[in-house]
Amino acid sequence: MRHLMSPLDFTTSELDALFDLACDIEKNPKKYAHVCDGKKLATCFYEPSTRTRLSFEAAMMNLGGNVLGFSEASSSSAAKGESVSDTIRVISCYADICAMRHPKEGAPMVAASKSGIPVINAGDGGHQHPTQTLTDLLTIRNLHGKLNNFTIGLCGDLKFGRTVHSLIRALLRYDNIHFVFISPDELRIPDYIIDELKEKNATYEEVIMLDDVIDKLDILYMTRVQRERFFNEEDYVRLKNFYILTKEKMDKAKETCIVMHPLPRVNEISVEVDDDPRASYFKQAQYGVYVRMALIMTLLELEVKDA
Ligand code: CP
Repeated sequence: MRHLMSPLDFTTSELDALFDLACDIEKNPKKYAHVCDGKKLATCFYEPSTRTRLSFEAAMMNLGGNVLGFSEASSSSAAKGESVSDTIRVISCYADICAMRHPKEGAPMVAASKSGIPVINAGDGGHQHPTQTLTDLLTIRNLHGKLNNFTIGLCGDLKFGRTVHSLIRALLRYDNIHFVFISPDELRIPDYIIDELKEKNATYEEVIMLDDVIDKLDILYMTRVQRERFFNEEDYVRLKNFYILTKEKMDKAKETCIVMHPLPRVNEISVEVDDDPRASYFKQAQYGVYVRMALIMTLLELEVKDA
């Protein structure tokens, strides 16, 4: 039985197969409409979510399966003190696969070690968000045409941003990617990620001002300053509007630059940018459904039956 805890759990050739499947699902949705007939997905979300939970649920329904679960810890028996280990043992009796989001780093890993069904890490604290990374890689592959030879700027909360940490690790396996980290000092990329970049001989630079580098980016990956990860409100208020991507800033970006964001956004991308053809974040959210359909099929080892 296979779980997904980190994007590195798949080899790059397995990722290629997953993305090829996601692309085929996008082109031929009817072909996949009954692949999960009779199967159930449990979504166990101890933290808020719109995209991840609902795209998992949409993915399972698109495959003909059913969904059950909870969307906050307070409506589950976690509120009565039940451990994640006990919860997953019980859910293993009810469902065929589980997507779990938890504020504690490593909680989905603990669940996987006690589970009778595949567990997918749907985001654990400030640690990893592998299915967002799968979504991001598919978006880059589809819209930029390749997963190598580009300059990517990651902007905003690089300290607590689990989507950024997961994406960097995944991109380090591809060739000739230059990383530009754009953050205030307080939210700079953690040292352990920098160590990984150095180990892999990846090129990178750290800057504070987006204006100084926007013209050289092939991909701009914006992130939200996350109120829920701050220890005090004062620091959050001081940093929350540090970056706002505007039409004027986009005028300096390459014509081919794609703008990504895992969403939700607060105000780090001005809504006027949404009409720019380079704004790709809503398309990115759509790709999240196809890649999660492909992931469910892969972990459940399901294939389309020949007609
Ligand atoms: N991108 C993402 O994880 O969004 P949600 O928090 O809405 O799931």
